[in-house]
Amino acid sequence: MNESVAVIGAGLMGAGIAGEFARGGYEVLLVDTHQSALEKGLQSLKHAQQTLVDVGHVSDEQAISALARVTVTTDLEKACSDVGMLIEAVPENMAIKQEMFKKFDHLCLSDTLLASNTSGLSISQIASATQRPEKVVGVHFWNPPHVVPLVEVTKGKDTSNATAEYMMQVCKTLGKKPILVQHDIPGFVGNRLQYAVVREALHLVAQGVASPEDVDLAMTAGPGLRYGLLGPLRTADLGGLDVFHTISEYLCAELSAEQGASPVLKDLVKQGKLGAKTGEGFYKYSGDELAKFLARRDRVLLGFLDVLKREGGDE
Ligand code: NAI
Repeated sequence: MNESVAVIGAGLMGAGIAGEFARGGYEVLLVDTHQSALEKGLQSLKHAQQTLVDVGHVSDEQAISALARVTVTTDLEKACSDVGMLIEAVPENMAIKQEMFKKFDHLCLSDTLLASNTSGLSISQIASATQRPEKVVGVHFWNPPHVVPLVEVTKGKDTSNATAEYMMQVCKTLGKKPILVQHDIPGFVGNRLQYAVVREALHLVAQGVASPEDVDLAMTAGPGLRYGLLGPLRTADLGGLDVFHTISEYLCAELSAEQGASPVLKDLVKQGKLGAKTGEGFYKYSGDELAKFLARRDRVLLGFLDVLKREGGDE
């Protein structure tokens, strides 16, 4: 297949995904509607490569040649005209995604594989906007793509095995850790796990059981620390399934079963406290604190991945 890829949407995820493919040797066309979005995307793509150089994951030469493989454009038609693969990373809205996939289907070659980076919308529904649902697949990179290895490759109801297997293979050659999601249930696998935790964390805060800081610490210094090496099911094996069975019998009924967004979340959103991007959420972010925190996050997580690799824990 043609080793070129169009990434549509140069926001947080699109720019990151473009960097992953460029380092993997693909010619990348990064598309957005505005030149300013492309410039911002290119800046963050460059910043991500520099981070990888700084921690020794990538050489200067590799980063430079990766950047040379990225072309930015606002011309969707031209970008679609001769690529082997297209990855969509526009906002998380079914109507927008369906409209875009209808266009991609029309503009791309008949054998171009069409993928969506949706966090959990139905791949079957997105694919239904095209005449090639067997060539439409979910490819959910996690944020930030230059750090987090997981990619969820999700089959819609008509996605062919060949398409899903091809995408799994592509992700492996990029050095990612893909998993195959056999049914496109909302949230796939990763976000279902993540939101089960978030729901309970918000419930504990709402009940006044612990402060947001202590809830976070309970995770980072406890189960979260283990999860980078041992998933929840391996953890259960090591703890003893009989023990997990006994605890499940009395604890599961006590856990939050909130059917929508938590009142705590609703309240913060109503006050315009949207987290880092507005300077306040559960925590406050002032001056260059956020940039420093993000740099530390990348350094620590990339260092942890090095340890896992060295210790054989990344298999
Ligand atoms: P974003 O808002 O940062 O970027 C979206 C980009 O798409 C913007 O630059 C916008 O100008 C561009 N865009 C909008 N309409 C367009 C069009 N017609 N043609 C070309 N470009 C267009 O969004 P973000 O966060 O990068 O999310 C993109 C997708 O990735 C969503 O489906 C989201 O659910 C998913 N995702 C997001 C994650 C996150 O942490 N933000 C993590 C994993 C997946």
